Amino acid sequence: MRMSRILSCASGYSTGILVFSIGLIVFGASSSFLQIRFSNTTQEFQIPTRVPKKGPEYPPIFSYWISGTKGDKDRILRLLKAVYHPRNQYLLNLDASSSYFERRRLALSVESEKIFQAFGNVNVVGRSQAVDQIGSSALAAMLHAAALLLQINRDWDWFITLSASDYPLISQDDLLHAFNSLPRDMNFIDYTNKTGWKERQRINQIVIDPSLYFQENTPIFHASETRETPDAFRIFGGSPWSILSRAFMEYCVHGWDNLPRKLLMYFSNVEYPLESYFHTVLCNSDEFQNTTLNNDLRFILSDTSPHVEPHFLNTSYYERMVRSKAAFARPFQDDDPVLQKVDEDILRRRSDGLVLGSWCLDIGMNQSVKANIGNLTSKEDSCSGWDNIDAINPGPDGVKLKAFVSKLAAERRLQSNPCNQQ
Ligand SMILES: *[C@@H]1O[C@H](CO)[C@@H](O)[C@H](O)[C@H]1NC(C)=O
Ligand SMILES: *[C@@H]1O[C@H](CO)[C@@H](O)[C@H](O)[C@H]1NC(C)=O
Ligand SMILES: *[C@@H]1O[C@H](CO)[C@@H](O)[C@H](O)[C@H]1NC(C)=O
Ligand SMILES: *[C@@H]1O[C@H](CO)[C@@H](O)[C@H](O)[C@H]1NC(C)=O
Ligand SMILES: *[C@@H]1O[C@H](CO)[C@@H](O)[C@H](O)[C@H]1NC(C)=O
Repeated sequence: MRMSRILSCASGYSTGILVFSIGLIVFGASSSFLQIRFSNTTQEFQIPTRVPKKGPEYPPIFSYWISGTKGDKDRILRLLKAVYHPRNQYLLNLDASSSYFERRRLALSVESEKIFQAFGNVNVVGRSQAVDQIGSSALAAMLHAAALLLQINRDWDWFITLSASDYPLISQDDLLHAFNSLPRDMNFIDYTNKTGWKERQRINQIVIDPSLYFQENTPIFHASETRETPDAFRIFGGSPWSILSRAFMEYCVHGWDNLPRKLLMYFSNVEYPLESYFHTVLCNSDEFQNTTLNNDLRFILSDTSPHVEPHFLNTSYYERMVRSKAAFARPFQDDDPVLQKVDEDILRRRSDGLVLGSWCLDIGMNQSVKANIGNLTSKEDSCSGWDNIDAINPGPDGVKLKAFVSKLAAERRLQSNPCNQQ
């Protein structure tokens, strides 16, 4: 009921300030979302009830944005459970092709999980926006998500974007361990400056994304004119999936330097801006170009040219995925059996359960409960005694990934300007 009031109030306002605050409406994981008010944007969030400790001696904090479209509610919930850790922040988002009821059901499902409520770190965007993955509305949606996550709580270190067809290849304890020793300003992004053919094919092609100004998802259209290659900045491109530092997201969102804003305006008329925008901002900024690691830690099979949708992954690719040292893989089809294999063999997640970590295992638990968990049976109750969310307990995968990212960071330090090496 409350949601309908929010939606109807939202459509009733039109001034800039109110539109801004309406854009920030999110549904918290706890029943306290019933107290959502319009007067003060900070009250629109679920305030975390248990705040993770921050500092060099504590593990980092990830901020996840999980986005999907019509029919993705269940996949998003499954992915959320596979990447959940009480330290992290999560923002779930269904685009404008989803129905009001689907978004509401997603918010209610999150609300009904005891653990999400207890830590208050899962938020669902109540109001949806039109998005075309090929157009600049997708870039606007990602920047909006980063802005929301910065507003909810600035205490995170890295921003990780996932779609409903992604899945982790490593547990959060292992991922937090791998990132623990890295400088917190590193950006994991796959890029190259070899954009010759892209410039001819796409960068110079002017496109308009009507999803920016229509309520429904609407396909982009191409202008008949083209424009010349810019000479005020160099264009870089690569995979749209990345792990970006908080400092860099603040730079892009708050824009005290004009570069991110100028490039945003330029890329709003480019096809697939998510494959170029962040890469180009990073590599053209003196402040951030030294922070790039040319690896997005994703496993994606693309033996074809860019922009062809990559192969769906299935059990035939399981061994290659596991050997890849990637933290995430994509895309998967809904309920593909390989996801269950990842759940059982890597994450040790029982169906519909969370991935257990030391935040849940170590505390308030005795051997008989541990034995049950080993059997992947009723584990929710065994987590009722959680306490120490600041300790992580990595397994062999975490140790391996840590060695890998440390090697990347060490190689990176030997290069003078990583953007010129590609
Ligand atoms: C996995 O997908 C590939 C095509 O990408 C197909 O050739 C193969 O048979 C599939 N394997 C399984 C186990 O479905
Ligand atoms: C261990 O936990 C189980 C289930 O909560 C409880 O029945 C049992 O008494 C506990 N044992 C000890 C030694 O605390
Ligand atoms: C594990 O599950 C199996 C099958 O449900 C059951 O037979 C076995 O006793 C369980 N083991 C433990 C330690 O609970
Ligand atoms: C980036 O690295 C190069 C070479 O190591 C160095 O000369 C330059 O000062 C660094 N830039 C910043 C902003 O730290
Ligand atoms: C890419 O960078 C290399 C090294 O700086 C340079 O030689 C090459 O011309 C660049 N290519 C393009 C297309 O800008």
